[in-house]
Amino acid sequence: MSYSSDFSHAVTDSEGFWQDVSKQVDWLTAPQTVRRVNEDGLAEWFPDGWVNTSHLALDRHVDSGRGDQVALIYDSPVTGVIERWTYQRLLEDVARFAGLLSSLGVEQGDRVIIYLPMVPEAAIAMLACARIGAIHSVVFGGFAAKELASRIDDATPKVLLTASCGIEFDQVIPYLPLVNLACDSAEHKVSHRVVLQRDRLRAELRDHDLDWVAAVSQAAPKHFVPLPSGHPLYILYTSGTTGKPKGVVRDHGGHAAALIQSMERTYGAVAGDVFWAASDVGWVVGHSYIVYAPLLSGCTTVLFEGKPVRTPDAGTFWRVIQAHGVNIFFTAPTAFRAIRKEDPEGLLLGNYDLSALKRVFVAGERTDPATYHWLSERLEKPVIDHWWQTETGWPVTGVPQGYGDALPIKVGSAGVVLAGFEVLVVDEALKPCAPYETGAVVLKLPLPPGCLPTVWRDHQRLVSAYLEDYPGFYHTGDGGYFDDEGYLFIMGRTDDVINVAGHRLSTGEMEEIVAGHASVAECAVVGILDPDKGQVPLGLLVLKDGDGHSVSVITSDLVQQVRQDIGAFANFKRVVVVERLPKTRSGKILRKTIRQIADGLSPVVPPTIDDPLILEEVTEVLRRAGIGEVSRQSNG
Ligand code: COA
Ligand code: AMP
Repeated sequence: MSYSSDFSHAVTDSEGFWQDVSKQVDWLTAPQTVRRVNEDGLAEWFPDGWVNTSHLALDRHVDSGRGDQVALIYDSPVTGVIERWTYQRLLEDVARFAGLLSSLGVEQGDRVIIYLPMVPEAAIAMLACARIGAIHSVVFGGFAAKELASRIDDATPKVLLTASCGIEFDQVIPYLPLVNLACDSAEHKVSHRVVLQRDRLRAELRDHDLDWVAAVSQAAPKHFVPLPSGHPLYILYTSGTTGKPKGVVRDHGGHAAALIQSMERTYGAVAGDVFWAASDVGWVVGHSYIVYAPLLSGCTTVLFEGKPVRTPDAGTFWRVIQAHGVNIFFTAPTAFRAIRKEDPEGLLLGNYDLSALKRVFVAGERTDPATYHWLSERLEKPVIDHWWQTETGWPVTGVPQGYGDALPIKVGSAGVVLAGFEVLVVDEALKPCAPYETGAVVLKLPLPPGCLPTVWRDHQRLVSAYLEDYPGFYHTGDGGYFDDEGYLFIMGRTDDVINVAGHRLSTGEMEEIVAGHASVAECAVVGILDPDKGQVPLGLLVLKDGDGHSVSVITSDLVQQVRQDIGAFANFKRVVVVERLPKTRSGKILRKTIRQIADGLSPVVPPTIDDPLILEEVTEVLRRAGIGEVSRQSNG
């Protein structure tokens, strides 16, 4: 099968294409209907099929003789533990944990929040929820109490699963004080909390808290339940342009079909391959390509609790690849920049045998050419940039590796459109842009299986955030262009979402925090280029008249507040004070123009600007603060 024939099949006969794909799913009741398109243009996929993702990821492999194959390898340089689960053992642990959840009153459709570090219990808990039709919502362990509380209130879980601590490099992060604060401040009250006690720091439990190990030892294993294909598997909150994160929902059936075909077509993975996505279960990459896709496809997945550097050194990725015979590796470009910074020549790579490794995938942010060349020249393996987002659940563009015809890689591009998606770059009037002309990147409706069917308890939010701007299309929020061979180049977000070290954050949310400071009259937060983290936030403050506080005190207050309200990973560290903020005549702050100045680019000044002099003032302040120097140099 060739990429071009497969892609054409998906465009000309979408239902036939997905019907063929659906045959790779072991349905409990096979669907008779491929899709039902709703009035908003989105589709329900395989609406009359019955399925269970936990069965697909575990039971069916054990039933077909894969029980002794390693399903999951936990490699934790921060604790020194390496442990393996066969499919048989993982199935037993998941079934038992499902039994525990049931005994706590968790029923089909109930929500369970999982706030855990990168430990195997996170994957076990996710699959256990799926087994009984509970809906999990994993919250990234770097999020602060307030973020956790807002997710508790939105998802209204019956049970919260957590651990005594996380381990970041050599720093032990106690979870319980934070979890207690979140539970106390949330309006919704969870009925039970189950706490995994870790040796590095044991937590003091509250009266009704259950100790993970003790509770599991009492539980009886639970069989999977048949679920309608569209039943929600999980909710994953992601940053949008407002302060309130969106609860992206994923279903069982469409998601399984989409991931299975993506493993084969895009990643070129086959059952038995060792697949390692070095990300976190708190992000979509962790959901799709640490937990679900590798297991759905009968691969071995690696769950890594560490960082690319300092755990213990910049050779840790290469060690893991050698130790476990990793065939396909996936991480964010920022991880390789971190390695390059500590080991510029890549000397540590020479200490390891990477012969098992077939290819590397990168996503989460654009792969800058310097990082691409550094990595591909040293590894001498294909390095494939591919583009997608939490909402899509699986890659939209890439250079697919599962076909007979191998397409070339183009540096700086996120690849071609993958079979199942139709992508357009359009101008504001929805007119398709010519090759090399930049516009908004939109996806034709209906979206394929695996993409979000709704936003948790707020379908209207999905419609207004993604579907209204470009009727008939889903608006990705990214800008970019196609070249004349159909390769997409993603140029970054066109909204207020930024990408800090592969972490998606909302500047709007940071603005709300900054604006809450007593000395701040007005503010803007924008993402600016950073050589290591891709982007970092920068706050521009207009202070209240006569405010006596020093800028350094205000700065440290704000840095602390963002750490406390969002989390340290937001990397909010820099602010500048300006006299006025540039705005349009209708009072809209010109964030994009500010960002361009800060990045050392020639700003596009909208004709509606109120006072162009203010731009000059801001440019001067940023210049004096040395902001944009690095990018000014690299932009020539
Ligand atoms: N729990 C608690 N704190 C966390 C955390 C977590 N899971 N993740 C990050 N933090 C904290 C860090 O400890 C650090 O705190 P500090 O300011 O007190 O030192 C802060 O947040 C900044 O973190 P980060 O920006 O991640 O920097 P880093 O030096 O810790 O790590 C990278 C840099 C590149 C190694 C790391 O950001 C990374 O691996 N990024 C890839 C993300 C990813 O996988 N994205 C998914 C797309 S594939
Ligand atoms: P997330 O939902 O956290 O996966 O973030 C999705 C966003 O990350 C996208 O909308 C893009 O802005 C950015 N992104 C992801 N992958 C890429 C890529 N390969 N190239 C450029 N940007 C990317």
